[in-house]
Amino acid sequence: MGRRFKLVFGISLLFLLLDSCRGSKVGVCYGRNADDIPTPDKVAQLVQLHNIKYVRMYDSNIQVLKAFANTGVELMIGVTNTDLLPFSQFQSNVDTWLKNSILPYYPATKITYITVGAEVTESPGNASALVVPAMQNVVTALKKVGLHKRIKVSSTHSLGVLSRSFPPSAGAFNSSHAFFLKPMLEFLAENQSPFMIDLYPYYAYRDSPNNVSLQYALFESSPEVIDPNTGLIYTNMFDAQIDSIYFALMALNFRTIKIMVTETGWPSKGSPKEKAATPDNAQTYNTNLIRHVINDSGTPAKPGEELDVYIFSLFNENRKPGLESERNWGLFYPDQTSVYNLDFTGKGAGDMITNANITSSNGTTWCIASSKASEMDLQNALDWACGPGNVDCSAIQPSQPCFEPDNLVSHASYAFNSYYEQNGATDVACSFGGTGVKVDKDPSYDNCLYMTAGGVNKTLASNTTAIASTSSSTQNEAFTWISNFILVTSLSFLLIVGNF
Ligand SMILES: *[C@@H]1O[C@H](CO)[C@@H](O)[C@H](O)[C@H]1NC(C)=O
Ligand SMILES: *[C@@H]1O[C@H](CO)[C@@H](O)[C@H](O)[C@H]1NC(C)=O
Ligand SMILES: *[C@@H]1O[C@H](CO)[C@@H](O)[C@H](O)[C@H]1NC(C)=O
Ligand SMILES: *[C@@H]1O[C@H](CO)[C@@H](O)[C@H](O)[C@H]1NC(C)=O
Ligand SMILES: *[C@@H]1O[C@H](CO)[C@@H](O)[C@H](O)[C@H]1NC(C)=O
Ligand SMILES: *[C@@H]1O[C@H](CO)[C@@H](O)[C@H](O)[C@H]1NC(C)=O
Ligand SMILES: *[C@@H]1O[C@H](CO)[C@@H](O)[C@H](O)[C@H]1NC(C)=O
Ligand SMILES: *[C@@H]1O[C@H](CO)[C@@H](O)[C@H](O)[C@H]1NC(C)=O
Repeated sequence: MGRRFKLVFGISLLFLLLDSCRGSKVGVCYGRNADDIPTPDKVAQLVQLHNIKYVRMYDSNIQVLKAFANTGVELMIGVTNTDLLPFSQFQSNVDTWLKNSILPYYPATKITYITVGAEVTESPGNASALVVPAMQNVVTALKKVGLHKRIKVSSTHSLGVLSRSFPPSAGAFNSSHAFFLKPMLEFLAENQSPFMIDLYPYYAYRDSPNNVSLQYALFESSPEVIDPNTGLIYTNMFDAQIDSIYFALMALNFRTIKIMVTETGWPSKGSPKEKAATPDNAQTYNTNLIRHVINDSGTPAKPGEELDVYIFSLFNENRKPGLESERNWGLFYPDQTSVYNLDFTGKGAGDMITNANITSSNGTTWCIASSKASEMDLQNALDWACGPGNVDCSAIQPSQPCFEPDNLVSHASYAFNSYYEQNGATDVACSFGGTGVKVDKDPSYDNCLYMTAGGVNKTLASNTTAIASTSSSTQNEAFTWISNFILVTSLSFLLIVGNF
């Protein structure tokens, strides 16, 4: 969701308007359990270039919050399971966290959800006992600063919360979890927060290929499964899993709680045993998933229901333990090239995640806006380029080819480059008060063609999206809790499969 051109102070008003434009959303999980993925600044740029508008992160890392400032990207942030103890113990711990670690970056960084704990039923220790008190403290802290309506609080689950998921109409929560699930569901209903579930048809297929067809797991089958109780016909496992949650909620009389899928996806590579982990299958699953949810088609039990989903994951993450597939869930390699093409619109046109055709750069350079620059500096430089700088800025006006993605960095990049190319492509012509950066990859995308020196238009072979950043840098932070959580995700699916 971008900001309007030059509407610097209208951000909150715009978000208010956009909040009313509902419809299923497709986001991407930004897991960082890797030592070779790009810095947060570069990731924010990559996300924008590919028009990804919703990102789930697993903690509230300040570098990441800063990197997404003024990008218009909506963030779901997380409180890790290891933080549940301090968050549940004292309200003041949460108040301090909100004041020092979140509010300084809000609303420049648009935060819409806080997940408190992740898949606590799979977590060792007493995370389950702590999660609801922690959620209550987070909501209380948000209420004190008047943000509880804008930032929703929930917690993610694996399908292991169910004791039964098949047939969907028999979906039921495992009664061993009732001690915390009951108060959690009451909390979600009261705060109009969604029930968050991580769903992996891939594991169900991998671990039980004789009982689950690949086509059914990939949304490619004709009607395959009929629920004997309801007569509802299922053509894919994703819907069946979602409906098992709906029925479990209905069985406990929680009819108003919406479901949100906080993780789903398909790995592009696996160990020799994992034959279904291929780029083709990953592309098929995610493409069909997006097509399936983007038009609010809903599920057999809830036709037409909105369903937001987050694809796991942005990058292949080399530090994840387990089978080969665990390190290959990404849409992107660490060098920011895409693992396979993915159409985020679900319409088969535009906003394609593909690699830029960068082979023809031939020493040509372009000038783009730094994603690290402050909004005010960028706006000033953009105003200058389009005014005294004599740049033709018509291409970045609404409905023109370079208007989307509608954000300051993208608009400024177009204008900076035009000025730079028209003015001898010298270093000075790309300074813009320190907000310009030279790159050696063509930033052109779709029909938005960036000028090259001499004003020669670059012709593009296809509708591709260029990647402006080149180098990837090393990040050495270890996020062991993600490993744990990925590990338990895998384990949980071994358990779940027993129900299929
Ligand atoms: C949870 O576990 C921690 C340490 O393992 C302990 O200090 C705490 O008292 C426990 N809390 C509850 C509610 O059981
Ligand atoms: C329910 O949860 C308990 C505790 O985690 C577990 O031991 C049990 O196997 C689960 N039951 C089913 C049917 O999954
Ligand atoms: C939504 O997309 C699905 C899958 O492409 C299609 O079967 C369905 O008819 C579409 N629904 C609407 C309302 O367009
Ligand atoms: C790049 O261009 C070459 C030659 O025009 C073409 O064969 C290739 O498929 C293109 N690659 C991409 C990723 O578009
Ligand atoms: C690179 O540019 C030079 C000078 O403009 C030109 O002579 C050369 O043919 C170009 N090479 C390619 C591969 O386009
Ligand atoms: C570049 O493209 C624009 C519009 O597509 C066209 O009017 C202009 O003549 C082109 N310039 C060159 C040098 O080809
Ligand atoms: C790019 O996509 C648009 C539709 O989004 C299409 O009309 C146009 O022909 C495509 N251009 C190329 C070069 O494929
Ligand atoms: C798979 O199906 C067979 C027979 O249809 C059944 O005996 C078996 O228990 C099923 N396995 C799983 C893991 O559901």
